[in-house]
Amino acid sequence: MDGLRNSEYRHLEVNRIAGSLGAEVSGVDLSQDLPEAVLSEIRKALLDNLVIFFRDQRLTPPTQLAFARRWGEIHLHPYMAGMDDYPEVLEIRKTPADKKNFGGSWHSDQAFTAKPAMGTILYGVEIPSAGGDTLWTNQYLAYETLSPGMRRMLDGLKGVYRGDNFSSHDGKTRREYYADKISMKVIDPGDTQTISTHPLVRTHPETGRKALFVGGHLHRFEDMTEAESRPLIDFLMQHATRPEFTCRFRWRSGSLAFWDNRCTMHFAINDYPAETRIMHRVTICGDTPF
Ligand code: SIN
Repeated sequence: MDGLRNSEYRHLEVNRIAGSLGAEVSGVDLSQDLPEAVLSEIRKALLDNLVIFFRDQRLTPPTQLAFARRWGEIHLHPYMAGMDDYPEVLEIRKTPADKKNFGGSWHSDQAFTAKPAMGTILYGVEIPSAGGDTLWTNQYLAYETLSPGMRRMLDGLKGVYRGDNFSSHDGKTRREYYADKISMKVIDPGDTQTISTHPLVRTHPETGRKALFVGGHLHRFEDMTEAESRPLIDFLMQHATRPEFTCRFRWRSGSLAFWDNRCTMHFAINDYPAETRIMHRVTICGDTPF
């Protein structure tokens, strides 16, 4: 680093916020049509830090979507209704009337689809005076810190990921679980595939590094029962979310987080019962995990 500016970047300033992942990026206005040179530095910052944060942005749903489209096709959430005028933007809203929050368990977005999300771009609209932070965890480290024997065993496993009925839903369907507890609109996924089988250890298509692919959507291992799978899933979840693998972000209105779902999990903390939190989320389609 020379002063505050990391010399690897010509257009951006990138400052890490924790030891294992996460960096704050400044020097860029995301509402603009950014040149390729700036985008490629943002990509480098994302690949190096897994989740990157931008402060003091002024985005509307169309400008957030325009930025997101530079990274790939936009994914529509099969269970949650998007905004009336912008179906590709999911408004994550929690008011004092809501008991549950959306995203309040460790997960990687759309792990249950055939091609789980590459990245998610989340913009803070209304933020509680205290609380409502989000946590992320580094799944490269989760994999690399396991013993060689455990890594060898996991390398051969596949997981079955389900969009509904996941463990933090107390065995209920998503609609039953959220009924009367959340004001966001839960929809029927129709014919969309919401159960998928993927390698438990996936290789990141851009960095070539291996990452553990667990989370709340992981229901069981292929060719095993749920009861047989549960103890190992519980161990892996506990390991994958060790505090030293995580970072925590304090939101402000106008903050934006962009994370890589191929090597992280995240968790939205529900600790602001008397306040409102509103976020705009756009998710970018990914590839078939290998
Ligand atoms: C999510 O995408 O899971 C929600 C994250 C958040 O609201 O902080």
